[in-house]
Amino acid sequence: MTHANQQKSRAEQNLINRNIKIPQSEYDLRRQRLVDQLPEGSVVILPGAVIRYRNNDADYAFRQDSDFYYLTGFAEEEAWLVLTSGRKGADSHLFCLPKDRAQETWTGFRVGQEQAIAEYNMSCAYTLDQLDNRLPELIDGAQHLFYPMQGDDALSRRIQDWCQQLRQKARSGAVAPEQHHNVLPLIHELRLIKSDAELVIMRHAAEISAEAHCKAMQVCEPEMMEYQLEAEYLYHFMRSGSRAPAYNTIVGGGANGCVLHYVENNQPLNAGDLVLIDAGCELQHYAADITRTFPVSGRFSPEQSALYQVVLEAQYAAIDQVQVGLDCHAPHRAALNVLCQGLLDLGLLGGTLDEVVESESYRRFYMHGTSHWLGLDVHDAGRYKIEGQSRPLQVGMVLTIEPGLYIAPDDDSVDVCWRGIGIRIEDNVIVTEQGPEVITTGVPKNIAEIEALMAGEGIAISA
Ligand code: GLY
Ligand code: MN
Ligand code: MN
Repeated sequence: MTHANQQKSRAEQNLINRNIKIPQSEYDLRRQRLVDQLPEGSVVILPGAVIRYRNNDADYAFRQDSDFYYLTGFAEEEAWLVLTSGRKGADSHLFCLPKDRAQETWTGFRVGQEQAIAEYNMSCAYTLDQLDNRLPELIDGAQHLFYPMQGDDALSRRIQDWCQQLRQKARSGAVAPEQHHNVLPLIHELRLIKSDAELVIMRHAAEISAEAHCKAMQVCEPEMMEYQLEAEYLYHFMRSGSRAPAYNTIVGGGANGCVLHYVENNQPLNAGDLVLIDAGCELQHYAADITRTFPVSGRFSPEQSALYQVVLEAQYAAIDQVQVGLDCHAPHRAALNVLCQGLLDLGLLGGTLDEVVESESYRRFYMHGTSHWLGLDVHDAGRYKIEGQSRPLQVGMVLTIEPGLYIAPDDDSVDVCWRGIGIRIEDNVIVTEQGPEVITTGVPKNIAEIEALMAGEGIAISA
């Protein structure tokens, strides 16, 4: 078993992180693939993310918009990408902040236009203040305009303004694009199938996140606060080259594990309880998403073990369904059957398996899906159904497998010994020709292995 106990030195970690960058040529290819799908005479307009203020003079950490990053690799705020079909393929126009020595003294390095062309392989780069002048020129004569349509009225209004300017110049030959489309579904379908370079990063994000879970199992003890366990993750992520978790870390001791999006993390961990931790790092904008549930004091009680074993078997059954050509909801159906049979066997539900599945009486204990796509977003882009049918799994898709059981602390329909137990086990899986590739095996999930790690068997992860 190669659990992530052989922690890399900082130098090793830094070397890996330097060597796993996505090559610029891949961003160029992505833009080309997008443009190749568009009808002749199309222009794509895609704004990046802007800085969000947290409170007076303090910002939230900036994080580039995933779609924008996917097409450019450009991580600076307030940028816009415009794609036009040129003679030699897609012409990429980037609008970004100008070099400005005084401003850069306050807010740090800016790429600027010259470097944007050279390093990000843009056809042209303009300063942001040229947007309103240049955009009407860039879309003049195009028939189709593609941009994000997700209820951003400010963006639609701005685009309508640019089109209106062209309509007003119709007598001098200007032509406004009259067919407007949502570009997001096209980008999201591209994002759904990961390249080899993306998979290298995702494997590494998974490895770092698994190491952090091992560390948490090793240091966990009763009376610790949930946020003190959370701190182990944040430390390990950043130590390993990640700048942030991919989503808010969930550390739920006891019944807090039954709250699916519990993020307060401010309660003490009690001996005898389980703790459910859902934590993954973001590395080079790609997410890992792992959940482990383990006993605060290192040993599962009989009831905890019984429920845990059901979830674990459901997870194995679901992972087995991650096969090319099977539909993307096959893992959920497989997990559901095992969970429901387990609930029946333990006397937590009555009836037959068919009745439980049909009536959804299991929903009291299992109320979420088993999988989601994983990538630049933790709940990554891409449709799950096409024309009403669950889509087949394809090589290069990455998904989570995360069954759970949650017995509410006030559920008086079950014996008191079950109440307040929340369990989820979540791994990240790549669809390959050879079957499921689980990339989060660096942290144990079998009861005996977890108890052994918590008992100090295995090489301790050093700080
Ligand atoms: N961590 C979010 C999820 O598992 O979906
Ligand atoms: Mn998940
Ligand atoms: Mn998760």
